[in-house]
Amino acid sequence: MSSLSLENVGKKFGSTPALAGVRLEVEPSVTGLLGPNGAGKTTLLRMAATVLAPDSGRIRILGRDPAHPHERVEIRRRLGYVPQEPGFYRNFTAFDFVDYVAVLKDIAERRRRHDEVRKVLDYVGLRDHAHQRIKALSGGMRQRLALAQALLGDPELLILDEATAGLDPEQRLRFREMISVLPQRPTVLISTHQTDDVSALCQRVVVLIAGTIRFDGTPAELAATASDRVWVDADRDERAAVSWRTSAGQFRHIGERPADAQSVTPTVDDAYLLLSGADISARSS
Ligand SMILES: Nc1ncnc2c1ncn2[C@@H]1O[C@H](COP(=O)(O)OP(=O)(O)O)[C@@H](O)[C@H]1O
Ligand SMILES: [Mg+2]
Repeated sequence: MSSLSLENVGKKFGSTPALAGVRLEVEPSVTGLLGPNGAGKTTLLRMAATVLAPDSGRIRILGRDPAHPHERVEIRRRLGYVPQEPGFYRNFTAFDFVDYVAVLKDIAERRRRHDEVRKVLDYVGLRDHAHQRIKALSGGMRQRLALAQALLGDPELLILDEATAGLDPEQRLRFREMISVLPQRPTVLISTHQTDDVSALCQRVVVLIAGTIRFDGTPAELAATASDRVWVDADRDERAAVSWRTSAGQFRHIGERPADAQSVTPTVDDAYLLLSGADISARSS
């Protein structure tokens, strides 16, 4: 059974379509939703978290229908969600905030609830900060606090919207590790606009551009879509769709490779740029 299933899902805000004809089955694994700003990632994840209903199409989450009030409650008990901009109560302590979310999640018995709150705070490394006010925590600690509340009750489905944004490289590494070694192995759906998150963390990557799915497969398969379309040279090649100077001082080019250029092994980054760059030229033509 899929953890999440979207059938021909569409959503508009005013006259602008944020998602159109999205079909997606998410199986237990770590799936990355990769796309530029405005692609519709947050809109899709809000639907997966039962916060937003689609205008058209059908969604099933953990085998249940989120349009049905009783089933929606069942889904919410089994789901963890880190929104892109978590709303914190700045004067709450870390402990009180997570405890409050635990009450909302219907963990009624106080002793069991407090044990659970301590467990998730320990997991994200906030044990020593549990009784500090949220406004006194660093940005990285707040990201971990957002993850802690999402882990309450061992969710079967974990939805993370840009959860690594704003973290420094060491914090990102730590965050990825926390996600990849979760003991209950939930289905994880994580949005990002950074390809290194996808390469490091995800078994599967779905590329969303302008509200439609443009690629769905493994990171290696995504990289392979740029095969034979990447080349390097000492000078900028005007025939490339996109080029940039690498740290080695050469220019890396992607696009329709000229016959006289030698192709190099593509990365996930190359393939993603090629996909999103192709979209820019399609839109401007
Ligand atoms: N609540 C909203 N009201 C109006 N427009 C919205 C709203 N939410 C999203 N949009 C629009 O929908 C599109 C997709 O947004 P979003 O899902 O936030 O993309 P992403 O998360 O990939 O950056 C954008 O054009 C955005 O401006
Ligand atoms: Mg977003």
